[in-house]
Amino acid sequence: MEKVISGIRPTGNLHLGNYFGAVKNFLRMQEDYDSMFFIADWHSLTTHPNPENIQKNARIILAEYLACGLKPELSPIYIQSDVKEVLELYLFLNMNAYLGELERTTSFKDKARKQPNNVNAGLLTYPTLMAADILIHRAEKVPVGKDQEQNMEMARKFAKRFNHTYGEEIFPIPQSFSFSGEMIKIPGLDGSGKMGKSEGNCIYLKDDEKTIKKKVMKAVTDGGPSSLNSEKPEVIQNLFTFMEIVSSPDTFEYFNDKWNSCEIRYGDMKKQLAEDINKYCAPIREGIEYYSNNDALLDRIAKEGAEKARESAQETLKLVRKVIGFK
Ligand code: TYM
Repeated sequence: MEKVISGIRPTGNLHLGNYFGAVKNFLRMQEDYDSMFFIADWHSLTTHPNPENIQKNARIILAEYLACGLKPELSPIYIQSDVKEVLELYLFLNMNAYLGELERTTSFKDKARKQPNNVNAGLLTYPTLMAADILIHRAEKVPVGKDQEQNMEMARKFAKRFNHTYGEEIFPIPQSFSFSGEMIKIPGLDGSGKMGKSEGNCIYLKDDEKTIKKKVMKAVTDGGPSSLNSEKPEVIQNLFTFMEIVSSPDTFEYFNDKWNSCEIRYGDMKKQLAEDINKYCAPIREGIEYYSNNDALLDRIAKEGAEKARESAQETLKLVRKVIGFK
């Protein structure tokens, strides 16, 4: 069975970008693939050197994933820092990762610009740690959103380079995965290209009805179409993208027709969208409430997940050490 791995940094609650970009694909895969899911707490240190409570944040994500429908009996869920084996592979991969290529990644350049006083080596080698997360299980498919494409390219490069250097096909070449066939990017409703924690424009799965409505009603729009069947500008397309995901096809068609006939009223569209997002999130919200109050269950799930992940990691490390020349 093909192996699948997915991860998230515990730097806040799950938002709709995380959900539709990665979580939803992962949930559909857990039945048919040998899948694992983890919380990348080490990664969060690259930008949050003093996390208030990294373990508390990891727990929140764990509870939220369970609420989304992740089944630990099908996909073990673990916390990255519980699987120290990842560090050994990270070290080996770093020996074959070059300064130039690491410096050229857009996420490194962005982060270096955003935190000029903290351009640390962890930030530089973020892609090697991510590659280690994936390759430690010899995973073949990685459900991620479009924003992770460059990190995935690096992971493929490191896998190929390692195989080539040691003359054995130890690692499969991991592919980004989305059921739609195309990597997904969920936009922000504030007119920015992407919904993201650092963009500060997220609708969170835990948001209540009132909060969702407030955020959606604030979405940026324009003066409306001036000719029939015209192309939608980006901010308007963003609203329709959301509607396509959370609303019924009839609702989407209704507003699309209104756009085409220049009769669209953005206020009505936003109200409908807020209602549909709320309907979508309500059961997940209840689940979050349930799991967040069940510490013993979360502890047990993380512990069992780590045990399974370590088993898989140790198998890979044995092969890796052997080809490199360590016993
Ligand atoms: P992170 O924590 O930023 O996001 C977790 C997942 O959510 C997706 N995502 C989005 N997808 C579509 N549209 C958006 N607006 C959006 N915002 C977030 C991300 O693509 C991601 O899949 N480097 C990773 C964490 C990581 C990882 C890994 C992932 C570390 N090691 C190994 C997979 C495999 C990250 O920062 O994701």
